[in-house]
Amino acid sequence: APADPAVFVGFGASGDLTRRKLVPALVNLRRTGALPAAFAFIAVIRQADVGKSLADDVLKAADEHLDSPLTQEERDWFLGRIGVVVGDVEQPILYADIAARLTELQASHGTGTNALFYLATPPQLFAPIAAGLGKAGLLDEAAAHGWRRVVVEKPFGHDLESAIALNRALSGVMEERQIYRIDHYLGKETVQNLMIFRFANSIFEPIWNRRYVDHVQITVAESDGIGTRGGYYDEAGALRDMVQNHLFMLLALTAMEPPISFDADAVRDERLKVLQAITPFTRAMVERDVVRAQYAAGRIKDADVRGYLEEDKVAPGSSTETFVALRLQVENWRWAGVPFYLRTGKRLAKRVSEIAVHFRQPPFMMFRDTAVRSLNCNVLVIRVQPEEGITLEVDAKVPGQALDLKTVAMDFKYDEVFAQTPSTGYETLLYDALTGDQTLFHRADSTEVSWRAVMPILEAWPSQSRPVCYAAGSWGPEEAHELLERDGRAWRRP
Ligand code: BG6
Repeated sequence: APADPAVFVGFGASGDLTRRKLVPALVNLRRTGALPAAFAFIAVIRQADVGKSLADDVLKAADEHLDSPLTQEERDWFLGRIGVVVGDVEQPILYADIAARLTELQASHGTGTNALFYLATPPQLFAPIAAGLGKAGLLDEAAAHGWRRVVVEKPFGHDLESAIALNRALSGVMEERQIYRIDHYLGKETVQNLMIFRFANSIFEPIWNRRYVDHVQITVAESDGIGTRGGYYDEAGALRDMVQNHLFMLLALTAMEPPISFDADAVRDERLKVLQAITPFTRAMVERDVVRAQYAAGRIKDADVRGYLEEDKVAPGSSTETFVALRLQVENWRWAGVPFYLRTGKRLAKRVSEIAVHFRQPPFMMFRDTAVRSLNCNVLVIRVQPEEGITLEVDAKVPGQALDLKTVAMDFKYDEVFAQTPSTGYETLLYDALTGDQTLFHRADSTEVSWRAVMPILEAWPSQSRPVCYAAGSWGPEEAHELLERDGRAWRRP
C-alpha cells in the first residue's frame, strides 16, 4: 500500500548519497506503488548555483543506479515534485523558508502536513539541523497536525561520548519515536530474512545455541577501496565505519533471542541485549583477539591498484585501519563459550557479505577409515550479498564402491525463487520511515551500547604498533588467519 501523503525534506541533497541511493530508492518505491501520489521532495542545499540544475542532475545520476532507466513519465513526475531551498543550516531563516515551502506544497500538491526530514549531511551538522528544526517548531506534531520524523544518517557519532552528545541533542527537540537512525544493512532483504528464517521455521531454533554451534563467522568484504571518501574514511577506519554498526547488527540478528512480538521495540530490545552481552575487551584481549590492518598496493580483477597510503586525502603515514578481524564472545546462556569471528575490509579479493554458522562435529566418528578423515562440519551460510541466499552444507557419500565423502550444498537462491532483485536497503528503510515503522532503525540505547563495545579497542590502538599490511586483492593479512588457526579453525573462502 502507498505511504501517506508526505514531503521529503532532504538536507545535503547535493551530495553523493541522494544521487546514488535516496533518489533511486524513491523511484523504485514509486515503481512498486509504495510512494504516495501526493508526494514532494524539498532539496535543502547551501549554494544557490547548484540549485538551478539540481533536479536534472540528481535524476541523471539516479538513472545510472536503477535497474531500468527512467521513463519520460517518471522524469516529468519527479521534476514536477522536486523543489530547492537554499540556505545555511545555522540560520533560522532557512527553517522559516522550509516551513513556508511546506505550506505551499500543501496547497499546490495536496501533500498534507506530514514531513520526513532526512539528514544526509556531514555528521557535524546533524545536531545544528535538529536544533534549527526544533526551534522553528517544525518537529511539533500537534502544531503541525501531522507526523514529523527525522532520519539520521551514519556515522552516528565518532565515539561513545559524541554519540551520547548527539542523542542528547536529538532528544532535546523531539521524541525518540520521531528519530530514525539509519543502518542500511538492516534494510537488506537477506538481513531481514534472517529473523524470518530463524523465527518462522521451527527446525533451526533448537540447534541455534552453544550445544550445537561450534562458532560463527561474519564476513563483510569489499573489493572497492575508499574511492573519493578519503577525507571521511581516514578519520573513521573500518572499526567505526563498519564494525560498530553494520557488523554488530548482523551479529545481533544472528544471536538474538526470539522477541515477544514483531513490534519495533520488542525486536530492538532483543538486539540490544546481544550487544550488551559482548564481553568487554581488555587491553590483553585487544592485543590477542583483534587484528588491525591496512591495504598495500596489489591487484584486483587483473588491474594494479594503489595502497591505502597513496589514496587521495589520506594523511601521510596514516595508521587508519582498512581491515579488522576480531574474535568476540556473547556471554549469555545461549552462547557462552561460542566464539564469534567478525571480519571486514576494503580491497579484499571480492565483494561478499555472509554469515556462516558452523555446527559442531558429530560426536562419534564412525567413518575413521575412509579417505576423507576430517569430516567437514555442517555450515549454514546466509549470503547477504551478492548472490543472496541461504546454503546448508552437508556431507554426502560419493557414488561408487569406496566410502568417500564430499561436502555438498542445499541451496536457496533468491533470484531463482523470487524474480526480483533484493532491495539495497534504502527502499525498505525509506518506506518504513514514511510509514512509521522503527523496527529496522537503531534506538538511542543501542547506538551507545555498540560504541561502548568498541571503545576499548579504539583506546588501545594508539599505544600499539601500526596496522599490519595486506596486499590489495587478498583475503587480508596473515594475522587474521592465525586468529582462527590458533583455535583450530579456518575462515571460509566465500
Ligand atoms: C557504508 C560504509 O556504510 O557501507 C562504506 O560507510 C561501505 O564504507 C558501505 O562501503 C557498504 O555498503 P554495501 O551496501 O555496499 O555493502
